[in-house]
Formats: sequence, C-alpha cells, structure tokens
Amino acid sequence: MIDIVDEAQAHVCAREALLDLSFGLDRHSKTSERLREGRLPVFAFTALDANGKVVGTVRLWAVADRWGHQSLLLGPLAVDPECRGLKVGDRLMRHALNQAVLHGHGSVLLVGDLPYYERFGFAAGLLENVTLPGPMDYRRFLGLEIAPGHLAGLDGTLFAAGVLDPIASFSDAGDGLALSKLA
Ligand SMILES: CC(C)(COP(=O)(O)OP(=O)(O)OC[C@H]1O[C@@H](n2cnc3c(N)ncnc32)[C@H](O)[C@@H]1OP(=O)(O)O)[C@@H](O)C(=O)NCCC(=O)NCCS
Repeated sequence: MIDIVDEAQAHVCAREALLDLSFGLDRHSKTSERLREGRLPVFAFTALDANGKVVGTVRLWAVADRWGHQSLLLGPLAVDPECRGLKVGDRLMRHALNQAVLHGHGSVLLVGDLPYYERFGFAAGLLENVTLPGPMDYRRFLGLEIAPGHLAGLDGTLFAAGVLDPIASFSDAGDGLALSKLA
C-alpha cells in the first residue's frame, strides 16, 4: 500500500537521497534548478510505503514570465527504483495536478520525457515564446494547460517567483517544505 501525503520535515533527508540516486549528484546544475533554488515550493508531496519509507517525491514551484504571469514548474519527480512500475509516479503526478487545478493554477510546465508525461496531458511545442534561464533541450520543455489560453499568454524568460526560503542560505539541499496550498 502506498500513501501520497504532503511532504513533512521528516521526509527531507530521504527525498534528497532519492533525488541523488535518481538524477545524480550533479542534478543541482540543471537549468530548471535555477528556478527552484532558494525558494519554497508551492506544493510538495511524498509517497510512503506501508512501513513509512519515502518511495517517491514530487514538488511544484512558482515561476513567472517577463510580464509577471505565473505558472507552476513541476519537478523533480522520482520514485524509488524498487517501486518503479507500480504506478507510484502516476499517483504522485495525478495528485499534484489535481491540487494545481483545485487551487486555480492556469498551467503546469516541466522539463522531461514526453513519452512519460504525455499520459497526463503534457505536450511539447506549446511554449515557443518562453525560455528558461540557461541551456536546455527545448524538445523536453512540456506544458499542460489548465485554463484555456494560459500557455499562449506566457512570454519571455521565466524567473523564480516562489516565496524565498528563509533558511536556504544555511542549506544546499533546498530543504524548504511546501507553502501549503499557496496559490
Ligand atoms: C519516471 C518515474 C518517476 C516513473 O515512476 P513509476 O512509478 O515507475 O511510473 P509508473 O509506474 O506510474 O509508470 C510506469 C510506466 O512509465 C514508463 N516510463 C517510466 N519512465 C519513463 C520515461 N522516462 N519515458 C517513458 N516512459 C517511462 C514505464 O516504462 C512504464 O510503462 P508501462 O506502464 O507501459 O509499463 C521513475 O521511473 C523514476 O523515478 N525515474 C528516474 C527519475 C526520472 O527520470 N524522473 C523524471 C522522468 S523524465
């Protein structure tokens, strides 16, 4: 049995270890990290197994375009290798997207593999007027529109729009928990 819960402080060490395992120790050098570092996520969810072990994580971050129009950047998403293929990622994604809808967000963006994310409604080629602050493969830049026309309204280089993490300067792991249900 897997539970999807709001991320708690007790999950942070296991989350970071799972992300290191899944993406490598150089994961902080990714361009998408420039939109997350030093900020609090808007949402953060953990998958727990029956023993309370952290077996999955996903977080979503506030970003804004040159005009201040906001969207959510989803990631990283990771599942413990021992639990992959059991729909843990699927449940984390659906929970995260449901929360984005319920809290009135207009769209969700991510950098990832289209063959995985298209099952949740993400598509490529919807963000031609939008860039990220660094090098990246734009074929992997995917969008999901919640409010009609929201993606077409985004323009320019995205910047981090999340609330500053007050303890980020004391941690290189971005330990901040989600500002629960902040729209
Ligand atoms: C991607 C990831 C989160 C999926 O989690 P999961 O719990 O195994 O996923 P689910 O059980 O919901 O779905 C499994 C399905 O997704 C497919 N899948 C997994 N990763 C995929 C990828 N990168 N591209 C395409 N399909 C993928 C599997 O082949 C499987 O297909 P099937 O349903 O036809 O058998 C997990 O494999 C993971 O943590 N990978 C390493 C980190 C990572 O790459 N994260 C971001 C992905 S861009």
